[in-house]
Amino acid sequence: MKYFAVRGAISLSENTKEEILSKTKRLLEQIIQKNRLEYQDIVSIIFTATRDVDAAYPAVSARELGMTSIPLICCQEMYVENSLPLCIRVLMHVQLEEERELQHVYLGKAVMLRPDLARITIAIDGPAGAGKSTIAKLLAERLGILYLDTGAMYRAIGLKVLENGKDPSNPQDVVPLLPDTDVSVRLEKEGQKIFLDGREVTGEIRTQEVSYAASCVGTIPEVRHKLVELQREIAKKVSLVMDGRDIGTYVMPDATLKIFLTATPEERAKRRWRELKEKGINVDYNTILEEIVQRDANDSNRRFAPLRKAEDAVLIDTTNKSVTQVLEEIESMLNS
Ligand code: DC
Repeated sequence: MKYFAVRGAISLSENTKEEILSKTKRLLEQIIQKNRLEYQDIVSIIFTATRDVDAAYPAVSARELGMTSIPLICCQEMYVENSLPLCIRVLMHVQLEEERELQHVYLGKAVMLRPDLARITIAIDGPAGAGKSTIAKLLAERLGILYLDTGAMYRAIGLKVLENGKDPSNPQDVVPLLPDTDVSVRLEKEGQKIFLDGREVTGEIRTQEVSYAASCVGTIPEVRHKLVELQREIAKKVSLVMDGRDIGTYVMPDATLKIFLTATPEERAKRRWRELKEKGINVDYNTILEEIVQRDANDSNRRFAPLRKAEDAVLIDTTNKSVTQVLEEIESMLNS
């Protein structure tokens, strides 16, 4: 016999008996299923709970699953400042006939405990002005993971085309520029920096002209291939929130969680208008509305990887919701 140990953890949304028992049950079931274990393989299980979890013993759920002859014990996890609250951890000892690579299981917000073992990827798609970047940025901050704004990459290419005096809606103008175009991002805790041919363009890409150019170059398959490759490469290595138009459908079809954010065109135009006004830029509301409708058409009607809700994405209409409400809704999904 060979002896092994498997780790796992899960976060709770509240300290109630039902939540503790159902979440612990889910964690145990996943550890067993992912590692193809039988009850007779399990030698013992240690459960720990953070000090804010005291409505029930997690081990009760193991008994309810029928693990009646396995030695179990529950302890309190030591408290460390700013650590993940409402969390149940498991250490399971197993004995197996053969050598086998075992998978540790981290669920809900507990994935943050071991980003090296459990990567979390969140895809946020939706039309312009639906609140994607605001929500994605804050969500990443709250979860302690990185944020990748893919729109910025399309904007960088849009900027390159404009700087070369070319037409962003003409593939014959855009495609020949691509081999000599280098787009790179630096993801930092404070935010994302974007570079075009080695020069930082983080601020420069935020103009109306570049927005429109980005939406045009985004319809060109060669542009998408180049950027999607880069996006997938980044997503392979880190836990992140990525926002765009085709993240859940095409870039990260296996994302841990997929959200499709939307709002009426009028509401989105109102938000953009307010944003520009705050920056001291006066633009006619109807012009913005027209641009939004035009960008929606560009993004949704293109042949290659159009803006579309992934079947398994959760739709959130942000029209009458505050940022906090949307964030809480998403966080509760991560915890469910
Ligand atoms: O999200 P944004 O406004 O910064 O995006 C700018 C444009 O880039 C948008 O109109 C469509 C395009 N885009 C895309 O086609 N695919 C993405 N994943 C992100 C943006």
